[in-house]
Amino acid sequence: MADAITIRAATRGDAPVLCELLRQLGYPAEESEIPGRLEALANFPCAAAFVGTNGYGEVIGLATAHLFPSIHDNDPVAWLTTLVVLEDVRGAGIGSALVRYVEQWATRNGAKRISVTSGAQRTATHEFYLRRDYEKTGLRFTKKLGETAS
Ligand SMILES: CC(C)(COP(=O)(O)OP(=O)(O)OC[C@H]1O[C@@H](n2cnc3c(N)ncnc32)[C@H](O)[C@@H]1OP(=O)(O)O)[C@@H](O)C(=O)NCCC(=O)NCCS
Repeated sequence: MADAITIRAATRGDAPVLCELLRQLGYPAEESEIPGRLEALANFPCAAAFVGTNGYGEVIGLATAHLFPSIHDNDPVAWLTTLVVLEDVRGAGIGSALVRYVEQWATRNGAKRISVTSGAQRTATHEFYLRRDYEKTGLRFTKKLGETAS
């Protein structure tokens, strides 16, 4: 299956399977929300949404990535901002292919480093990144805004 993987830009026509992928990732969305999100990514100065397809052209994985300018460095920093593969085809090399593709995209766009944040509960995914030369260097702190003042 890995041999037949093709990676291309996500389109609004992918909305149904993108919803399924986002549901499996824990971020359920309505199909009607997807075109606006893809448009917002396209309008961002340097961001991309890629899908992996199997030999039949069916979408089986999703990755998004962003590049940001930094005051810490002269080079932009890249972030892998989404990665998910359909549950029934995991372990067949699709996630690895998407990560490599995003790394190449980031390199072409001038990044010298790529990072990813991953929920503390995703322990198998942490091993996936560590085995692909990602180092664990920090913790993520996150806060919902506009609900309580503290
Ligand atoms: C992490 C993920 C994208 C990897 O995709 P994939 O197509 O299964 O990855 P590959 O086939 O290229 O590689 C499989 C590797 O992932 C590991 N893995 C992690 N979670 C897995 C799962 N649920 N099923 C199968 N393999 C999994 C395997 O142990 C294997 O490890 P190794 O090759 O380093 O020995 C995929 O498992 C997934 O969608 N997980 C749930 C969502 C998630 O955690 N996304 C990342 C958020 S930061």
